[in-house]
Amino acid sequence: MTTAPVPFELLPNSAAVNDGALSIGGCDVVGLVAEYGSPLFIYDEQHLIDTCAEAVHAFGEGVAYASKAFLCKAMARIAHAAGMHIDVATGGELFVALAADVPADRLVFHGNNKSLKELSMAMDEGVGRIVVDSFDEVDRIEQLVAQGHDVPNILVRVNPGIQAHTHAYLQTGIADSKFGFPLASGIASAAIVRVSESESMNYKGVHAHIGSQVFDVESYRKAIAALTPFLNESAAEEFSIGGGLGVAYLAEESESTISEWAALVLEAARAEGILARISAEPGRSIVARAAVTAYTVGTIKEIPGVRTYLAVDGGMSDNPRPVLYGSGYEAFLPRAVTSPRGLRVRIVGKHCESGDIIVNEAALPLDTIIGDIVCTPVTGAYGHSMGSNYNKVLRPAVVFVKDGVSKLVVERESFEDLVARDIG
Ligand code: LLP
Repeated sequence: MTTAPVPFELLPNSAAVNDGALSIGGCDVVGLVAEYGSPLFIYDEQHLIDTCAEAVHAFGEGVAYASKAFLCKAMARIAHAAGMHIDVATGGELFVALAADVPADRLVFHGNNKSLKELSMAMDEGVGRIVVDSFDEVDRIEQLVAQGHDVPNILVRVNPGIQAHTHAYLQTGIADSKFGFPLASGIASAAIVRVSESESMNYKGVHAHIGSQVFDVESYRKAIAALTPFLNESAAEEFSIGGGLGVAYLAEESESTISEWAALVLEAARAEGILARISAEPGRSIVARAAVTAYTVGTIKEIPGVRTYLAVDGGMSDNPRPVLYGSGYEAFLPRAVTSPRGLRVRIVGKHCESGDIIVNEAALPLDTIIGDIVCTPVTGAYGHSMGSNYNKVLRPAVVFVKDGVSKLVVERESFEDLVARDIG
């Protein structure tokens, strides 16, 4: 491990240094914590606007933001204003997108187990696309149309049987998966026949998502090659390659840009002779690097001959990715963002779990003390959205920063919130 400062390539686009201290969107990070408390998710709003615009430019009209990565009304509005559609995978995500005044016809409704109630809600609102994932769902849609709902536009989720190189939990395109209709066994063809022949469904095309945090973008070429004959035979008008583009979390990692990924996908589709309009559904690559999480250091416990534990005021409740996937993160002090990081610590949270680790092997400046603000970069995706309030730890606030102005977009949970629905 080197003692080099945190690489700026891992920070939001507007990250800048003033007297050694980090500012994002023109706002001093330590000052933001003084104002809003910690833990705090700090998002560079212009970064979000720019990645959404990049996706629209790269893939064109029809590209959707996968809102599971990070969703609040302010985020939904940014993606919509940039011209993106929005992928919602549950009634809850659908509700939040609608609450942000995103028109229903801009929404793509996903999910491997959509309930009758969720489908009814989506069809009442008139969502743009429903991505069907099972024959049971087809039955439910037919039932709802028979009861008077309008005929919805349908994409069929197909599992191409491609192994994307990523964590096993993040693979979705392999044969043994709960998602989609498998291509290999002929089940996908049967699903397309069923949907296109049904008077209760307007078949539009195919959706395939091969996994998440995929660094090897050649995996997409393989999926496209596997799907082309199928797409053309079924006269698909639309084809979405899903999301999944990997992002760098650590100093030694490097990522492809959304534009590079799109160029590969579009070129592969052209080369294979796909006739359908191509689209995609990025989540992580839109939001991950746009944010940092800021914590306050509470204890520093040195165990001689073993290691030093540095505990912060959050943990697995605001970032469960290390405990779920063994994910690695960098850490740094925003007051000294360009300083060498000679101290080795394990950054842990405040939960009653030994696995409550934020950064397994973190490097921080040698003069790190109690009360310091410590940040982890690249926490904009699957942090806040996968958060919990385990141990009744309060969910953090979210601020957006831009042009020297900070805006609270999600309030910190309060103790009263913890009992708001506890009516016993
Ligand atoms: N479309 C579909 C149908 C998906 O299931 C997903 C992610 C996406 C798009 C967006 O993928 P992205 O571009 O964000 O990779 N919690 C995990 C990631 C789970 C991804 C689930 N589906 C993590 O923290 O790494």
